[in-house]
Amino acid sequence: MQIIGLSKVNKIEIIQELAVIVNQAFPGPDGYPTLEIARVEVLESLGEERVSLVAIDEQGKVAGWIGAIETYKGNAYELHPLVVREDQRGKGIGKLLVEALEERVRELGAMTMYLGTDDVDNGTNIYGKDVYPDPLSHAQGLESTNNHPMAFYRKLGYVVVGIFPDANGFGKPDIFMAKRIGQI
Ligand SMILES: CC(C)(COP(=O)(O)OP(=O)(O)OC[C@H]1O[C@@H](n2cnc3c(N)ncnc32)[C@H](O)[C@@H]1OP(=O)(O)O)[C@@H](O)C(=O)NCCC(=O)NCCS
Repeated sequence: MQIIGLSKVNKIEIIQELAVIVNQAFPGPDGYPTLEIARVEVLESLGEERVSLVAIDEQGKVAGWIGAIETYKGNAYELHPLVVREDQRGKGIGKLLVEALEERVRELGAMTMYLGTDDVDNGTNIYGKDVYPDPLSHAQGLESTNNHPMAFYRKLGYVVVGIFPDANGFGKPDIFMAKRIGQI
């Protein structure tokens, strides 16, 4: 498995493969419901103030993709997106991608990596709940109940720093997580 910058690969084929993987992973209306929408997302990751890394397997095929967006004048980067090809999940590729991204973003001088991970599909113990008037207490007790990616990020050292109640409709929050990756 090789992890390289998307800007350094044979683009047209790889971008098409990535679009398929992204579309298959997030086919819903809140995701990338068509190949064209997915392709635009891939192309946008080549822009300035972005980091975009792709995992290529032994057959030269795309196994996964991760990106980050510079925010807060480079002090913090938002991890977005992350996807591993469906038949390649559970083999440590997601972890490898996150670690490679952290290394790259650390080199760029950032202190923090953060991300938002939505619960639109009954993946956590706050799905469907009215979290007001105390959303922070719900954030503190958050647990994955159905393979939600927050458990994956937790394993890699990310902690819940807040929730955005009803971000995707009632009871469907966005969950914010962060990790210090730089030196104090
Ligand atoms: C989430 C995702 C990127 C994880 O990638 P992956 O390659 O399957 O994960 P890894 O094999 O590197 O897993 C690393 C560790 O996290 C654990 N893990 C992975 N996904 C998990 C989940 N959904 N819930 C709990 N633990 C999980 C693994 O068991 C492994 O644990 P271990 O180190 O104790 O063995 C992948 O499932 C994916 O692409 N999902 C669809 C897209 C998506 O949800 N992206 C994130 C949007 S915020």
